[in-house]
Amino acid sequence: MSDVKTYPIPQNFQDAHINKETYDVMYARSINEPEAFYREQAEQFLTFERAPDAICSWDLSKGEASWFAGGKLNVTVNCIDRHLPARAQQTAIIWEGDDPAVDKHITYAELHEQVCRLANVLRARGVKKGDRVCIYMPMIPEAAYAMLACARVGAVHSVVFGGFSPDALKDRILDSDCRVLITADEGVRGGKSVALKANADKALAACPNTHTCLVVKRTGGAIQWDASRDVWYHDAVAEVPAECEPEPMDAEDPLFILYTSGSTGKPKGVLHTTAGYLLHTAMSFKYTFDYREGEVYWCTADVGWVTGHSYIVYGPLCNGATTLMFEGVPTYPDASRCWQVVDKHKVNTFYTAPTAIRALMGAGNEYVTRASRQSLRILGTVGEPINPEAWEWYFHTVGEGRCPIVDTWWQTETGGHMLTPLPGATATKPGSATLPFFGVQPVLLDGEGREIEGAGEGSLAIKASWPSQIRSVYGDHQRMLDTYFSTFKGYYFTGDGARRDADGYYWITGRVDDVLNVSGHRMGTAEIESALVLHDLVAESAVVGYPHDIKGQGIYCYVTLMAGTEPTDALKKELVALCTKEIGPIAKPDIIQWAPGLPKTRSGKIMRRILRKIAANELDTLGDTSTLADPSVVDELIENRANR
Ligand code: WT7
Repeated sequence: MSDVKTYPIPQNFQDAHINKETYDVMYARSINEPEAFYREQAEQFLTFERAPDAICSWDLSKGEASWFAGGKLNVTVNCIDRHLPARAQQTAIIWEGDDPAVDKHITYAELHEQVCRLANVLRARGVKKGDRVCIYMPMIPEAAYAMLACARVGAVHSVVFGGFSPDALKDRILDSDCRVLITADEGVRGGKSVALKANADKALAACPNTHTCLVVKRTGGAIQWDASRDVWYHDAVAEVPAECEPEPMDAEDPLFILYTSGSTGKPKGVLHTTAGYLLHTAMSFKYTFDYREGEVYWCTADVGWVTGHSYIVYGPLCNGATTLMFEGVPTYPDASRCWQVVDKHKVNTFYTAPTAIRALMGAGNEYVTRASRQSLRILGTVGEPINPEAWEWYFHTVGEGRCPIVDTWWQTETGGHMLTPLPGATATKPGSATLPFFGVQPVLLDGEGREIEGAGEGSLAIKASWPSQIRSVYGDHQRMLDTYFSTFKGYYFTGDGARRDADGYYWITGRVDDVLNVSGHRMGTAEIESALVLHDLVAESAVVGYPHDIKGQGIYCYVTLMAGTEPTDALKKELVALCTKEIGPIAKPDIIQWAPGLPKTRSGKIMRRILRKIAANELDTLGDTSTLADPSVVDELIENRANR
């Protein structure tokens, strides 16, 4: 792919933290001498109460990894307390409300007090080291306080995205047996309220062990109240001391659980631990975003996703940075909002998802050029492959050609950046996540599990442990081994396919399993299928992704109805509503096609390859259909296809 455009490292990034020479030297050292490399990095980035006895050891063939064993530390001491001597009055969090007239600056001293108070509330409610606490919050500072308060007392947080339905929330609370839930009366997004407490009430009705529901008053809207369980957050934090002793944690003690979708079964509770996770997020925050003292950094993700965990809360705060938290959506009040916020708070680094970039690109350049954007220095993207057209628009129109783009490839399971350019070290190519971050050894494997040398395409796997590697699937360790460490023995299997070009640059080609990426939200096709077949009139369903201009992938559902059922538009609406109810609005089908039959092999396996092709309207590459039990069903599906 020598015809691909390459953008050189901009002149003004010559003095970045990492340049081409230091990247090469440090990367080689991180791979060849991980003990020495990570000892130094930990000394630079982390404060231990007790020094670790060992730096790292792993055996990926058993899915085992241990980082900084024997070390003791508390994440909140690293993210807050140790910054106080120098930065008590520096802003830790800038909160930008949904309403453009509302914002708030929270200093490190205030953050310390808020986190300590809430930590004391948790302790007073019986929360101890190792207990799980569920957080179901809008994008308000209390969401970050809640995560950090858990970390302060050694509790394991499980943040559930505020867009998930009561059923999805219930499943997650039960799976990790969370005894405390922290939520808000309502969230506000794009001028509309989100009924979080009402959703929580529905979920908690089926969670008898959850004895406390702490409720932040965000809007003051009318809500139901169960006096035996519900506690106003503001009342509770007012009654406790403003200081709280941090719980000393082992380096490998759990920090959080975050549920994510796979190709089969219910979402998995990905478990991350303390020291390694914090080190990798802190290092990657500083180096990927070339973070400078005093800069304002803005990641538009929600704290309900791993991006919010690693790059709104932990990575930035561990570096003593100023992190912006945005309650609203990029298109409210209009498509100029992001750039207005950039100007208002003098944002230096802006990190968002391709789906947002494409939506803003579609709205027109005048929304961008209306704002000055002079403060911007670095632009980031994450969550799904970015098409070169959107990349170019981001680079030229938003960044006016002066801001390097960091296209960061990683996953909930990897905790932090795995493939990414570094602004002062890596020339960029639109659409490529470029090269590995320190300590990351990517490989491409062929169908037989052999490593592909040089340029080529295959399954993307990782050959050695990195500090923020997934440690377990909560409550089902075997599932972690089966999902990530069994496909290719001795490797971590990512589930993504990738191509490597002659310069060693990686190009993610998308999932190789049945996982969808809709607007950067990850979903298993099996989850949506399970929701659809809950309907009495549905006999069977098969869900696939198809290319969508804004969302990256849209959700295309083939539905077979019970014999004799009339296929009506009203029924389609019911099915859409069912997916929203079972999973949440992010799982709303884009297209439902009635399928009198599904293409199956003689052994009864649905041939999704064919369904994907029909959904994408790529009929000339359907492939071989002769092995189907009944090839004629394909003609029917083609005839009535809904995307053309
Ligand atoms: C999947 C992980 C990483 C945090 C947000 C999503 C896709 C992610 C990129 C990128 C191409 C990407 C992959 C990956 N993905 N970033 N820069 N280029 N694809 O985390 O929900 O765990 O999803 O998102 O397919 O496997 P996640």
